Amino acid sequence: MEISCFSIFFVLLLVHCFMASSAVAVRTNITTDKSALLALKSHINDPNKILASNWSTSTSVCNWVGIKCGAKHLRVTSLNLSHMGLSGTIAPQIGNLTFLFNLSFRNNNFHGSLPNELASLRRLEVVSFGLNNFSGMLPSWLGFLPKLQVLYAYTNSFEGSIPESLGNLSSLKVLHLSENNLSGWMPSTIYNFFS
Ligand SMILES: *[C@@H]1O[C@H](CO)[C@@H](O)[C@H](O)[C@H]1NC(C)=O
Ligand SMILES: *[C@@H]1O[C@H](CO)[C@@H](O)[C@H](O)[C@H]1NC(C)=O
Ligand SMILES: *[C@@H]1O[C@H](CO)[C@@H](O)[C@H](O)[C@H]1NC(C)=O
Ligand SMILES: *[C@@H]1O[C@H](CO)[C@@H](O)[C@H](O)[C@H]1NC(C)=O
Ligand SMILES: *[C@@H]1O[C@H](CO)[C@@H](O)[C@H](O)[C@H]1NC(C)=O
Ligand SMILES: *[C@@H]1O[C@H](CO)[C@@H](O)[C@H](O)[C@H]1NC(C)=O
Ligand SMILES: *[C@@H]1O[C@H](CO)[C@@H](O)[C@H](O)[C@H]1NC(C)=O
Ligand SMILES: *[C@@H]1O[C@H](CO)[C@@H](O)[C@H](O)[C@H]1NC(C)=O
Repeated sequence: MEISCFSIFFVLLLVHCFMASSAVAVRTNITTDKSALLALKSHINDPNKILASNWSTSTSVCNWVGIKCGAKHLRVTSLNLSHMGLSGTIAPQIGNLTFLFNLSFRNNNFHGSLPNELASLRRLEVVSFGLNNFSGMLPSWLGFLPKLQVLYAYTNSFEGSIPESLGNLSSLKVLHLSENNLSGWMPSTIYNFFS
């Protein structure tokens, strides 16, 4: 009896330790946010020098241009680099901005494909990639962002078929995909959301 109790306890302890260690591996904080944004900056060409001195390591990320932080957790909730004349690619580290609600790269000249790491931004509500030169497939993980309400991907070089998973986005209010090289059909369930 005592032995079995002990072994159950031991198993629970193991489970607990495992969960604790996997939680450590994914834990992020404002320092993670800062290094993610610095990684993004290092992939960006910034001819108007908008980020150059403003995104300074000696100031809080919450005071950086284009950044908003939430009052509660003091984490980056909005990254908005719209219309800044930027080019370059999107650093995969952006996927570490765990508290991001709004993301906009609208109206720049970013290229390359969207990194799969962005799939871990589970809080995203508004996403705008519009008016850039992003290429590759429109990723299926977009359809698995549970809170997504607005998705702009218009005027880019996306190609291939429209992912069926977009039909999962039950909170979707705005979807703008025009002026790309997409083919095929809209997922049929998508029309339910707009009717
Ligand atoms: C953020 O997390 C890292 C490692 O997990 C830790 O070393 C650091 O002190 C934390 N920073 C803050 C501001 O909490
Ligand atoms: C960065 O830009 C923001 C918004 O324009 C401004 O409030 C802040 O003072 C700037 N910081 C620096 C160090 O220039
Ligand atoms: C996200 O964007 C929407 C619409 O642009 C705005 O109403 C909302 O306040 C923004 N949220 C954050 C956290 O910046
Ligand atoms: C941030 O993201 C990168 C690339 O996706 C990853 O290698 C790194 O471990 C992450 N850092 C933290 C502190 O989570
Ligand atoms: C980004 O900023 C622009 C201009 O300030 C604003 O019109 C737009 O709604 C913002 N987008 C998001 C997703 O916050
Ligand atoms: C956009 O990207 C494609 C390759 O994906 C390239 O051929 C084209 O020149 C780019 N267009 C602009 C305006 O940069
Ligand atoms: C999301 O869409 C895919 C492809 O249409 C489907 O296989 C999957 O079951 C859907 N998942 C949810 C949670 O609705
Ligand atoms: C668009 O995609 C088709 C194949 O799906 C390809 O034949 C065509 O060259 C592409 N056009 C552009 C402008 O990339």
